[in-house]
Formats: sequence, structure tokens, C-alpha cells
Amino acid sequence: MSEIAKIELEGKTYEFPVITGTENEKAIDISKLRDTTGYVTLDTGYKNTGATKSAITFLDGEKGILHYRGYPIEQLAEKATFIEVAYLLIYGALPTQAQLDSFSNSITKHTLVHEDMKQFFEAYPAKAHPMGVLASMVCSLSTFYPESLDPNRSAEAKDLTIHRLLAKLPTLAAWSYKNAMRHPFMYPKNEYDYCGNFLHMMFAMPTEDYKIDPVVVSALNKLLILHADHEQNCSTSTVRIVGSSQANLYATISAGISALWGPLHGGANQAVIEMLEKIHNDGGDVDKWVAKAKDKDDPFRLMGFGHRVYKNFDPRATIIKKACDDVLEKMGINDPMLEIAKKLEKVALEDEYFKARNLYPNVDFYSGIIYRALGIPTEMFTVMFALGRLPGWISQWKEMTENNEPIGRPRQIYTGATPRDYVEISKR
Ligand code: ACO
Repeated sequence: MSEIAKIELEGKTYEFPVITGTENEKAIDISKLRDTTGYVTLDTGYKNTGATKSAITFLDGEKGILHYRGYPIEQLAEKATFIEVAYLLIYGALPTQAQLDSFSNSITKHTLVHEDMKQFFEAYPAKAHPMGVLASMVCSLSTFYPESLDPNRSAEAKDLTIHRLLAKLPTLAAWSYKNAMRHPFMYPKNEYDYCGNFLHMMFAMPTEDYKIDPVVVSALNKLLILHADHEQNCSTSTVRIVGSSQANLYATISAGISALWGPLHGGANQAVIEMLEKIHNDGGDVDKWVAKAKDKDDPFRLMGFGHRVYKNFDPRATIIKKACDDVLEKMGINDPMLEIAKKLEKVALEDEYFKARNLYPNVDFYSGIIYRALGIPTEMFTVMFALGRLPGWISQWKEMTENNEPIGRPRQIYTGATPRDYVEISKR
């Protein structure tokens, strides 16, 4: 017998169906609540609200489980490439060799951006944050591909837009860095794979090739895979809600990039390294900074700690911590930030304040240290997150459009003034 939830309001009982997901997640379906009762629910920050049904990513925050399309993140991070995971997320199944070849070839073919876009880059100040540049550039792609303005086109036309975006984001990301350095742009090279090409565009110079190191490529693949999707969250829900207005994919993803930028979301990876550097420069007294994080009169928070849904551990953080050790060892790097990070993690994990609030290191606590080892500058960390998250955003947008979801439009509880008469300015 299917479960029913009962709500009693003003002496009347209303029944609502309970729906169960494939991993036994339960939800009360209140889609008819307002029509039947006249009430709405209030859930600021959406801590208890399922905004959609989705078959893409499953996570269990209590158990520290993360699956993409049913595949455990641990297996994907160890065995797959980022482009394989991108295909999995977007098309729902692991690709055959032929499918993977055709997908990779299509992406390789579209990596160039229109020459006119170079002028946009040049107009930005040298100190422009690359996330601001990236969000604008991605939105600007819509002006070069006017046919993309109609998101309800054939599956082939949608695929072309998707492949273009996947192909061009690394180029735009690398060029935002080159522009900030006032270095010449490096064009993509078809002989390289996705990660290799990005590294080439970031680090090669017209005078000197960049030697692609398999250790670096493998670490980058892993980092991008770990960030590739994370069900509903600030940026992904932004993508779904902007896309629900039938805005084009470029504008929609640009909004996702902006949402990711904040330090409470994707911007945390930059904030973590800045925090570790601050602690290091301040003499490395970890206890002092843990005390600051606990002090309610002090706005300081331990960046890279805490997560809205993971309340035991973040499985991505476990993989990344190991990867961090491996990469630094293989590259022969001794980074004092790693020592501070490890000390900080130990102190915080043993501290009652952090234990009581289930605060654990999240994916971004260690990712910045690997990015530093790979030579990625701090301001580019959130851009790296955006590169990783792109297939997730695209798959969520695709699912939302294919399910014909209605435009996102929440309700509110109005708490402002009740009607009053306009007062002439001379009488105020
Ligand atoms: N340092 C110190 N205290 C913290 C921290 C932290 N990093 N995170 C949460 N707390 C405390 C809060 O002060 C609050 O304490 P209280 O109950 O005494 O008032 C309690 O823990 C709950 O915190 P909330 O902010 O209510 O938790 P929420 O689920 O809303 O926020 C968030 C989660 C935003 C991730 C938060 O933990 C945080 O700000 N972390 C630091 C930033 C960060 O690392 N963000 C990256 C998240 S992962 C990602 O987006 C990829």
C-alpha cells in the first residue's frame, strides 16, 4: 500500500502522496498543497525541499555515498577519464569505444573560439578575476551562435551546442588566465586530449612547448571527475531554474558559473588556500585559528570545512586527500600548506565544536593544494571547479528540458508593510 502523509489545518485533514526514489529516499509530494489548502511551505535555503526528480546523481550525506548514474565516485575517479564521465552524465550510460571516440572527436573539433572573442578578452583589466571573465565569455558565446537561442531544437542541434560548450570552456578558461598575465593566447592542439589540451593552452608559450606530464594529466582528470556533478546545489539549481525559463544553454551555464563563484560554494577552494597561507604567514598557530572559527563574534570560518549535506565525511575529500599525497610525492614537491592543512584537519576533527556540528573537510579542503602543485594559480581554482562541473550542469539542464519541467517560480511569505497611502515628499 502506498504511503500517505496527512496534514491537519484548521481542523481539516489533507492527504498527500509519499514518493520513494530508487535509493529509498522519501518525499512528501506537496505539488497540490496550495490548490487544496491555500497554504504554501516555507523552507528558506531549501534544506528540506526536493526541487525535482533526477536520475543523474545520488548522494547520501549521512553515509558519505556519491554515485553518478549509479557508478560509485571512487571507481570513476580511479578508472575513468573526465571525458568518459562527461558522456556518462550527459547521455546516461558509459560510452562504448566508438561512442567515446566520436564524442571526443566532436569536442576536439570545436575547441577554437571565434577570433573576434579575443577582442573581448583584451578589454578586461589585467586584474580581472577569471571567474568574472569566464561567466561573461560563456554568455557571449550565445551571440556567436544565434541558432542556440532556441533551446527546443532537434536532439542533433542540442548536441552540437553541448559539444561546443564542452570544447570551448577549457579554451576560454585558459585564455582568461593568459589574458590576466598579458601573455599571448595559445591555440588548442587537436593532438591532445581534453586535459592535455587545457594544460597546453594554460602553460605553453609561443617560444616554448609545455611538456605534458602524465602525472599531472591523471591528477587533473581525477579532480575534474570529483567535481563533475553533485545533484541539486546552489549552482546546479541555478542552472535548472535559469534554463527553465527557456534561456539558451550558454546564458544558463553562465548563470551557473556566477553562482559557483561565491566562497560558500565553489569559491571555497580559493578561500582555503588563502586561509592556509594566512595561517602560515601568521606563524602557523593552528589552535589560534580554530579558536577564531569557533568564536561567534568572529566572522572567520574554517574554509573547506562543513557541507550542507555531508554530515559524516565527504567521499570526494577522502579521494582527494590521497591524490594530494600521491601528486606531491610524484612531483617531488614539499608544500608547507599541506602540513598546515593536515594539522588543521586533525585539530578540528578532535574538537567538540566541530564534532557536535558534524563539520568535516569537504572536497575543496585539499583540491587547492593539488592545483598549486600542478602550477594552477590560486585565482584560477574556481575556474577549475567550473570546468569540472560543466558536464553536471549540462546533464541537469538536459534532463530538465527533456522532462518538460515548468518554469521555476517559488512562493514567499510576505512580511512587509500592509497597504498605506502615498505621502507627498514635502510631508515625509
Ligand atoms: N567553520 C566554523 N563553523 C562552521 C563552519 C566552518 N567552516 N561551517 C559551519 N559552521 C557552524 C555554523 O557557525 C553553525 O554553528 P551554530 O549551529 O552554532 O550556529 C553550524 O556550524 C551550522 O552551519 P550552517 O552555516 O548553518 O550550515 P550550512 O549547512 O547552512 O552551511 C556551508 C554549509 C555553507 C558549506 C558551511 O559549512 C560553510 O560556510 N563552510 C565553509 C565554506 C566552504 O568550505 N564551502 C564549500 C562547501 S563545498 C562546495 O560547495 C563544493
